Amino acid sequence: MKRNDRLLLNVIPPVINLNLGKEHRSINMKSWMKRGMTLGIALVLMLALTACGSAGTSKDENEPEAQETAEIEQDIYLTLVNKTHALPDGWEDKIQLLDMKNAYDEDIQVEKGSYEAFLALRDDLLKEGVDIELDSCYRSVERQKELWAEFEAEYGLDYCKQYVAVPGYSEHHTGFAVDVCLIKDGELIYENDAMMKETEIWKKVHEKMPEYGFILRYLEGKEDITGYSYEPWHMRYVGDPAIAKEITEKGLTLEEYLGQVDPIPEEGAADVTIDYGASELYSQEDMEKAVDLIKKEFSTWEGCELHSIRFAGDDCNSADNIRWMNELKPGQNYTQCIEFLSDFHSPVEGGGAWEPDQEYKDYQWYLARTDGGDWELVSWGY
Ligand code: DAL
Ligand code: ZN
Repeated sequence: MKRNDRLLLNVIPPVINLNLGKEHRSINMKSWMKRGMTLGIALVLMLALTACGSAGTSKDENEPEAQETAEIEQDIYLTLVNKTHALPDGWEDKIQLLDMKNAYDEDIQVEKGSYEAFLALRDDLLKEGVDIELDSCYRSVERQKELWAEFEAEYGLDYCKQYVAVPGYSEHHTGFAVDVCLIKDGELIYENDAMMKETEIWKKVHEKMPEYGFILRYLEGKEDITGYSYEPWHMRYVGDPAIAKEITEKGLTLEEYLGQVDPIPEEGAADVTIDYGASELYSQEDMEKAVDLIKKEFSTWEGCELHSIRFAGDDCNSADNIRWMNELKPGQNYTQCIEFLSDFHSPVEGGGAWEPDQEYKDYQWYLARTDGGDWELVSWGY
């Protein structure tokens, strides 16, 4: 996920000039070393806190309650989030996120257990002269949306599909995914292409990971199962090192280990982000039925590419709107309505009502239903 994370946050790391063209981006060694020292001091402090049993928590690990939590956590560390398994509802209530800085001094969050394991792994690797640093860890669905847009704009949709999960379907939402970057000879290596070349370093990193409960998530040769290209930097904490070792020794993906290998959705189908938001009026099932109608209509729009659909909120169900929809379809006697917003891309050549090759944002869809009836698509447009 590398530099796009930094672009969005608009935090310019002191050592990397992101405003320059790619070929001019360079590392200022002195600043980097200075920052490295700061980071080192911070890490020593964190390790000391961990040793005191207080890294971000005041719980006594020996208390029965703490043990119960640990058991629940082990289960949760095997949660599958991939192209066919969305992040479970209410996820953030189930994990403990720690605030910290990544290698670029940006504010990031990591799940507590994953972070502690990362520190131990990092420490061990340092003894072998390998320096891994945190890059991107926990990402909210909102953050993933921004990241998708940035990658698509900069690298194109095809690259994006290979390396970036559709928001709501990224393992980074769990907090258990840790993208690392490398420091080699005092230089920070963070671009995907540059990191790919460091095969010797990754070999050492990957060998050590299972001992600390990490697996390599996107394996070379298993793209048809994970749905993503090989990512040497993306490690996934699964909790128990014995499980991580078994998965690694058998050369499995998490999908295979859990017996949940599903066909990767057709190209295009998985790329539509659906955000059901929060509603006091409608269940997810209600909304899914409405979204199906929108998708069905959209599929007749030749050359247009649908990117996202999101619930517009309960406010839409107002007396005024219901009256308006009844005026549009006299005799229906609608009693409820629902609104969604969508983003889509128009055909490159244009056509129909569309400007060529444009991203249309917040395009509105209105549906209504009678008491006990099914949704009907009543109106759409700006
Ligand atoms: N890079 C991984 C697939 C993600 O975006 O979650
Ligand atoms: Zn990742």
